[in-house]
Amino acid sequence: MLKGKKIVLGITGGIAAYKSAELTREFIKRGADVKVVMTTNAIRFITPLTLRTLSGNPVLTDMFSLTKESEIGHITLSDYADIIIIAPATANIIGKIACGLADDLLTTTVMAKRSPVLICPAMNTNMYANYIVKENISRLISRNYFFMEAGYGELACGAQGAGRFPPLDDIVEEVESILTNKDLAGERILITAGPTREPFDPVRYITNYSSGKMGYALAIMAKRRGADVTLISGPSSLMRPSGVKFLQVSSAEEMRGAVIDNVGNSTVIIKAAAVADFRPVVFSDDKIKKGLGPFDFHLVRNPDIISEIGRNKGDRILVGFAVETENLVENARRKMIEKNMDFIVANDATLPGAGFQTDTNIVKILDREGGLEELPIMDKIEVADRILDKIKGSRSPQSSQRAQRN
Ligand code: CTP
Repeated sequence: MLKGKKIVLGITGGIAAYKSAELTREFIKRGADVKVVMTTNAIRFITPLTLRTLSGNPVLTDMFSLTKESEIGHITLSDYADIIIIAPATANIIGKIACGLADDLLTTTVMAKRSPVLICPAMNTNMYANYIVKENISRLISRNYFFMEAGYGELACGAQGAGRFPPLDDIVEEVESILTNKDLAGERILITAGPTREPFDPVRYITNYSSGKMGYALAIMAKRRGADVTLISGPSSLMRPSGVKFLQVSSAEEMRGAVIDNVGNSTVIIKAAAVADFRPVVFSDDKIKKGLGPFDFHLVRNPDIISEIGRNKGDRILVGFAVETENLVENARRKMIEKNMDFIVANDATLPGAGFQTDTNIVKILDREGGLEELPIMDKIEVADRILDKIKGSRSPQSSQRAQRN
């Protein structure tokens, strides 16, 4: 989602400056345009050539370079930026900005800012704990500057504590979030994700191939768009998304319990989980021995969670998924009507690039009025965004027009 975003990355003089090279790569990989500004001390730690190579743009260091000033001086940079990021940010740069000092290209650019500024502190743990630094950070936060918490652990100086460069993924996610219009603020969205596991002895269970990627993408995107998100997840190897309430479950019955507990407080429910339809009738407390003869395995139906919600959903928006291998649209429409959903997201699991495990999906979104939106292959995060557009659109039709979104 950072594709085409214009980022000014300010690098200041700390040992973590080398990590900003990797951060630049992350932004470039996502299609952003990055212009790097380095302070005089930063170039003692890492060369401008490295950043120039990685960003594909000239690196700016000098405020008084007249030829460059006409093209890319501090005012031009401030106007250009969708976001200014200072990473790593030393105690010195934080103090200067908090006091309104502007004596080099980076501080003058920040002083003339028109965009959000995200500051990622990295410094010695005692410096980070210093009350003057803390006061400066509080002051800037009260002036709507965004801050990442410094990471905790071993620092380059050998100390142990807070002061490490924040994890790259967290910085990228924070930038995504800052640059996303908060058009779902006020919505409380309950999302289920992943498979369920139905055990039949202490070491075995039946499950399905769901990875949880679609549900997690929905949680991440809904959070970025300002919703209050609760994610109920079956077993998944994915990282827990930051900034969402996360509930871990395993079996379909546990998932049902967690959904029922949380549905009352939700305005939207999205059931992306691949709930196992059946569970073994008996659970053996001891491991089942293979024995000699054939093994009879009896299954019983699991509760249909979405149908239960559908019966008492009130004015909540209910979205379900249908993974099919044949008669996609007919099956999906039937499920939507039978289970009283407002939308159903249908995908054909036999298509390459769709269904479980993949990072992409190919879906059709059906609504109760007979509408059908067919989306091309896209990343699951983009699919999630389009599903959320539908939800937003059903609240107020005009606001669904993507053109109005930043
Ligand atoms: N679902 C659910 N509880 C279940 C099974 C499914 O809440 N026990 C939800 C899923 O999260 C999904 C939707 O129902 O949003 C459709 O799931 P699917 O398994 O395709 O539907 P079924 O009605 O079980 O259809 P099928 O006969 O194809 O298994």
